[in-house]
Amino acid sequence: MAESSVLSGRKFAKEVRRNLAEEINRIGGRPPGLAVVIVGDDPASRVYVSMKEKACGKAGIDSVVVRLDGSVSQQKLLLQIDSLNQDTSVDGILCQLPLPGHISADTVASAILPEKDVDGFHPENVGRLWRGEDGLFPCTPVGIIALMKHSNIDIDGADAVIVGRSNIVGKPLAALLLRENATVSLAHSHTSDLEGLCRKADILVAAVGRPRFIKREFIKPGATVIDVGISRTDEGLVGDVDFDNVAPICGAITPVPGGVGPLTIAFLLSNTVKAWKRNN
Ligand code: GUN
Repeated sequence: MAESSVLSGRKFAKEVRRNLAEEINRIGGRPPGLAVVIVGDDPASRVYVSMKEKACGKAGIDSVVVRLDGSVSQQKLLLQIDSLNQDTSVDGILCQLPLPGHISADTVASAILPEKDVDGFHPENVGRLWRGEDGLFPCTPVGIIALMKHSNIDIDGADAVIVGRSNIVGKPLAALLLRENATVSLAHSHTSDLEGLCRKADILVAAVGRPRFIKREFIKPGATVIDVGISRTDEGLVGDVDFDNVAPICGAITPVPGGVGPLTIAFLLSNTVKAWKRNN
């Protein structure tokens, strides 16, 4: 069997960002604007937000970061979002998760105007996604589909299994794969015979946040394996897939780091440009 290929999300994300920068430059006029709201001082969130800021700057997107104290009331946060909704220089709004326990992420998602909802978390965008309509859809799943298409992975007619049913990755990715004519199973902690199900997958996506949870025995030889997990361990950053043992038997696999991770920011910028073009 041919050696498996390692799908470099990092390389692809760079290309996507470069193309966006060119497109912004070509279209000209008022630059796209992204507002990122961060509540509290979660260290990982701070790192992500500063990476988003930097990526915006390089692409020619104006970014503004709204930093709110962890004790801010939900009402104050909603007022802030309302003012960003009305700000005509802001095309995209994102509220970094996780939020403190006293704030409802669902309420916040519903408060952002659907046409500025670059996370794709607003119920209107979720509905549009499942109905097969155009809209703004979650960045990581959109990036995964784009990476697979870019890598000439056959999605049409494929048996796809996603392990993990989150609103950010598992569920929206299921909808996107369905739109591409895959047959989709969405597996989770109550799934019986997970290993048997995974072994039938032409496309296996792991998004559970459990280091090296997906073993060699779970893999159909030649399958495409997409690893969304990233956990900090004593041995460094580790994905949900036991890479060293899985890579030799699969057809294609995303590494951790350098696989799915970089796609999230690239497609956040892509969603921002999409919103900007609609507003422009
Ligand atoms: N925290 C972790 N991933 C995400 C994401 O995709 N969007 C937002 N807003 N917060 C996150």
